[in-house]
Amino acid sequence: MITINKSAVETYLEQNNESEPVCAYVYDLDHLKQHAQTIKNSLPDFCELYYAVKANPAEQILQTLEPIVDGFEVASIGEINKVDELSEKPMLFGGPGKKDHEIIEAMERNVDYLNVESVHELNRMAYLAEQAQVKIPVLLRVNLSTNVSDSHIRMSGVPTQFGIDERDIPDVIVKALTYEQIEIKGFHFHAMSNNLDADAHLRFVEMVIEKALAWREHYDLEAPIIDIGGGIGINYWDTSNPFDWDMLAKGLSTFQAKYNNKNLTLFLEIGRYMTAGCGSYVSEVLDVKSNHGEHFAVLRGGSHHLRLPAAWKMSHPFRIHSVEEWRYPFERPGILNTEVTVAGELCTPNDVLVRKEYVDRLRAGDIMVFEYAGAYGWTISHHDFLSHPHPEHVFVMNNEINKV
Ligand SMILES: Cc1ncc(COP(=O)(O)O)c(C=O)c1O
Repeated sequence: MITINKSAVETYLEQNNESEPVCAYVYDLDHLKQHAQTIKNSLPDFCELYYAVKANPAEQILQTLEPIVDGFEVASIGEINKVDELSEKPMLFGGPGKKDHEIIEAMERNVDYLNVESVHELNRMAYLAEQAQVKIPVLLRVNLSTNVSDSHIRMSGVPTQFGIDERDIPDVIVKALTYEQIEIKGFHFHAMSNNLDADAHLRFVEMVIEKALAWREHYDLEAPIIDIGGGIGINYWDTSNPFDWDMLAKGLSTFQAKYNNKNLTLFLEIGRYMTAGCGSYVSEVLDVKSNHGEHFAVLRGGSHHLRLPAAWKMSHPFRIHSVEEWRYPFERPGILNTEVTVAGELCTPNDVLVRKEYVDRLRAGDIMVFEYAGAYGWTISHHDFLSHPHPEHVFVMNNEINKV
């Protein structure tokens, strides 16, 4: 279970002496290190833990995770560069729409595995590898025929741009085997985002192991890798009821025993579950007001810094850091024991982080702390809409603050 260590935010706020309203991402690197180590220690030996860089590619995050994870899942040359600067651990290059120059650069950089997302991509990889006189180790990414999850974002089991239709996999294996430059190392099954059901996740894993073993046997492939992707969820709606990681880890251990003699390595590419809990978006309330019978708080910040709640049309989990100091000689606006919608500083009604949630008290000058903002927070947001200044990015380790 993830626990939030609140001290990093408090450490930052205590030491903050800026005159401008507070607006920052605060990352607790001690918490991240401990959490990542707990995940790693819980996994059986036949699992390798990759970090999906897209969840949060900040250098300090990558540096903290580097000694703990087995490798990195990357989706662009930009991400390859970031990892390359600080690690020699394996990289797995996934994602649809790989450009020729990205495939070439990945080969030159000795990226360890490339996902194949389509027949055309397979043909292009073989062509480029032949020209370069190298072999490309690949995982065939499968878009499963059956639905695999109740999670609301699915990449597989439904029509999407991702992977090769499961029904076409036999033909693609046959084709890949005709290419000397292509080495099938395994299969890739990343299928969903933010799954909250550990039991369903285990059923998915068992199903894909069985499918991969059947293909291996039928085509006499060695292909030891089965990549089960990421998709472990954060319960943003009820943080007291998190994804049951222990159940997943125990289930994976059972699979290790069950498939003991099968020469299998299971790759996990964890993004959200790795970094969400280490980051908080911290933003000062500029105004509190009411109209049409509803209450609104307006922040220094908003969805251009933290787009996730607007994208998912949810209230982001938050707590209120009360600030007693009031800088003006006139009345302080505030509300008591009521519901509030928390909006940002942008000129659009979509700029909402919290919709009609109950608060005991909220006043202009208080600070809202949006927890679980360490994954798909800053990195997926439209930073420059309206050209407001960016938030500070604050990394806290051993009570020491490092601002970027
Ligand atoms: C191929 C692939 N692997 C891993 C991940 C990480 O998923 P998550 O952050 O849900 O763990 C993603 C996210 O989109 C992905 O596309």
